[in-house]
Amino acid sequence: MKTKLKYKVIIAITLIAITMGACQKLFPPAPKANDDISQGVVPGLTTYQLQEHALGDDEFSQIFTPQQGLGPVFNQASCNSCHIGNGKGDPVTSLTRFGNVTNGVFDSLTNEGGPDLLSNAIPGYLGEVLPPNANVSVHLIAPVVMGLGFIAALSDSSILANAYPHDGVSGVPNYIYPTSFFVPQGINTPNRAGQCIGRFGKKATRVTLQDQVVFALSQDLGGVTCDYNMVKPYNYLVGPYTGNDVQDPDVSVGFVNHLVMYLRTNKVPPRRNTNDADVIAGEQLFTQIGCISCHISTFTTPQSDIAALSYQTFHPYSDFLLHNMGSGLDDGVPEGSAQSFQWRTAPLWGVGLAGNAQGGQLFLLHDGRANSFIAAISFHGGEADSRRTAFFALTQQQQQQIVKFLSSL
Ligand code: HEC
Ligand code: HEC
Repeated sequence: MKTKLKYKVIIAITLIAITMGACQKLFPPAPKANDDISQGVVPGLTTYQLQEHALGDDEFSQIFTPQQGLGPVFNQASCNSCHIGNGKGDPVTSLTRFGNVTNGVFDSLTNEGGPDLLSNAIPGYLGEVLPPNANVSVHLIAPVVMGLGFIAALSDSSILANAYPHDGVSGVPNYIYPTSFFVPQGINTPNRAGQCIGRFGKKATRVTLQDQVVFALSQDLGGVTCDYNMVKPYNYLVGPYTGNDVQDPDVSVGFVNHLVMYLRTNKVPPRRNTNDADVIAGEQLFTQIGCISCHISTFTTPQSDIAALSYQTFHPYSDFLLHNMGSGLDDGVPEGSAQSFQWRTAPLWGVGLAGNAQGGQLFLLHDGRANSFIAAISFHGGEADSRRTAFFALTQQQQQQIVKFLSSL
């Protein structure tokens, strides 16, 4: 996205927030211009693919108005206001997911506004507040949306290759019942129940980028309908919005396709300082103490309908599997077959660019609670407990080498 547009986005959103009086939080300082590193396409796309990408790029930063179908309840008016410049989001724009746990049984309270809180509203309507029945909630900050086409192109078998017990860790796939609009591809290996492996989202609950986009229009942005999901969320305390004179679907199938194409063809986060001696030593230590057991460095895609994504080796530093991360990271909200203490290994690519997108500060882990790499490592419990211990047994200098390696990703 062009920098000028980015500022327009921020100004427009601030205006919306002020006029609606719904959001009293301050916005973070304008992100540093790192467009050259976080913006750009996968090399080798055709002219047609580049055109589709450009359309999706415009949509990703489009600021939705109520006349374009936003609301009646919503979180943000644009994809880009959370995924700033394709980078990591911050706690100011975090998403709240909630539910009720009674006798160990979780209910996502869909009749009371669940699963996600949509706290803003278009003029004349009221944003959602947490229902009294909600006794658990989790805050999620937006992940980077670079290189996702490579992850989407992976075969299930290459994800399963790292699953189950090895090296003292035990990643499990999140098997999900596919959405009604899911079209199985050769890369999918459903289980006997017909479920497919989820790979997107912090608990790996979305099987495809299309699933994620359709869900995001409805629940992350808020209230934008498309042919795949015609349900308008509404504040259950107020009732369905009757002033809706916008014909559903709010956006076309083409619109959804362009957004998917944009996400599929964003380039991978570029490495920096790879020849630095500390960065090299840091990666060796990262491997030696077993961070690599979950943060898997290398995958190769099979054939893809986008030639530029076919047979490509890439380095996400994730296994896309769920791990028990211990009680410290247990926020009480399960999702699909993912328990509340299980998280998908966060891909570490782009983590060194996070500070740029987060207004010069660092907000790491699912809710941004860790303000430094070392703090993020100190929250690693459960299956990662022995790795945390190994990290803190290193000398200060060695720890800093790992930090420098992470900063280069
Ligand atoms: C309110 C902030 C917010 C907005 C607005 C938003 N997102 Fe997100 N996005 C998130 C969060 C938080 C997650 C992690 C969700 C989860 O774990 O379920 C996410 C996840 C994603 C992912 C999955 C990335 C991965 O690594 O698994 C994609 C793709 C994505 N969003 C695309 C979009 C698109 C496209 C839009 C606009 C239609 C959008 N988002 C709007 C916050 C937001
Ligand atoms: C058992 C698997 C596992 C091991 C081993 C592991 N991690 Fe992680 N790591 C995760 C998971 C899962 C998350 C996401 C947790 C969350 O979001 O709350 C994560 C998150 C992170 C993050 C934050 C990323 C972000 O985008 O916010 C960093 C940094 C990190 N790990 C570094 C390390 C380092 C360094 C080591 C070795 C000392 C290590 N990890 C070992 C599973 C693991």
